[in-house]
Amino acid sequence: MLARKNVKSSWEDRIAMKLIYVAGKGGVGKSVCSAASGIWKAHQGKDTLVFSMDPAHSLSDIFNIDLGRQPLKIREHLYAYEPDLALEAGSFFRRYRSVFTALFGLFEVEVNPEDFGKMPGVSELIFMDKLNDIYIEKKYDFVVIDSAPTAMVLPLLQLPSITTGFVTRVLGMRNRWMGMLDLLQPGFGDRILSEIRTLRIKAETMRTALIDPEASSIAIVTIPEKAAVEESRRLIETVQSHGVTVSLIIINHVIQDCDCRFCREKKASQTAYIEQLRERYNDKRIIILPDYGREVLGEGLMQVARDLYDNDDIII
Ligand SMILES: Nc1ncnc2c1ncn2[C@@H]1O[C@H](COP(=O)(O)OP(=O)(O)OP(=O)(O)O)[C@@H](O)[C@H]1O
Ligand SMILES: [Mg+2]
Repeated sequence: MLARKNVKSSWEDRIAMKLIYVAGKGGVGKSVCSAASGIWKAHQGKDTLVFSMDPAHSLSDIFNIDLGRQPLKIREHLYAYEPDLALEAGSFFRRYRSVFTALFGLFEVEVNPEDFGKMPGVSELIFMDKLNDIYIEKKYDFVVIDSAPTAMVLPLLQLPSITTGFVTRVLGMRNRWMGMLDLLQPGFGDRILSEIRTLRIKAETMRTALIDPEASSIAIVTIPEKAAVEESRRLIETVQSHGVTVSLIIINHVIQDCDCRFCREKKASQTAYIEQLRERYNDKRIIILPDYGREVLGEGLMQVARDLYDNDDIII
């Protein structure tokens, strides 16, 4: 058991690094909330990386900084990283060349490293691999994951079963084909299996981290409108059925006091959805984030960070 400084100490005293996974429907404010969460943690003196897992990166735009291809320090304690998918796909393909040669050979598909990154599911695999490197390195206190729009489930939860399915398939063909592959190129069969095992262990490590509330915290961003509320409900149900605890719900774009007819009507409809969310998720922390009436960028993020977390009660 790990040592605790005192009984009241939070998980921050007990574990080296924590993931904050920010998920939700498209366009609801995930990237803004991820960037603001990173700023808040850094403001508290915690080394924090904001990591984009969305192929359509937007952190550079939100932070107003060209982030480049490696984690970049953007202010004291704060780093941000948008992996270059095309570049990473090439090196990922080369690293696991045996696996992919076998996989595509199995389906009689010819693929070169340049096209590899565009294949379905590959970006998740690459981001998972990068995140695993960061997770193992334990250089940061917090890693905030700005995810791609999620309809049903977090990709990090699905990857182990996908890789396990592939292992099973390859193991199934092992007896039939591996001997032959070894004849063509000594050790080829074993190399494939060992590469797949490595990938599977990485995927499993990240899934385990995600379902451990001491290692991860999941924040769902939503807006008080029917489609978003319903999609959040499905997302929360699905991730919880995988054993993941959603600790925080951020209701974004909430209209503040304004007397014009448009705002009054919108506010009435928003209030009904906010009530619904509060009732349904009375076991979770719910944060209301105002609509700022303009896009949120650069220096404006500190205000969002304060509105999100400047409250003794809120721990992420
Ligand atoms: N509370 C807010 N008030 C005003 N504008 C906001 C607010 N939150 C987000 N925005 C703006 O809404 C737009 C979408 O926000 P953001 O990029 O964070 O959404 P997203 O969920 O990450 O989108 P995507 O699913 O495309 O990745 C941006 O222009 C952002 O500045
Ligand atoms: Mg985004």
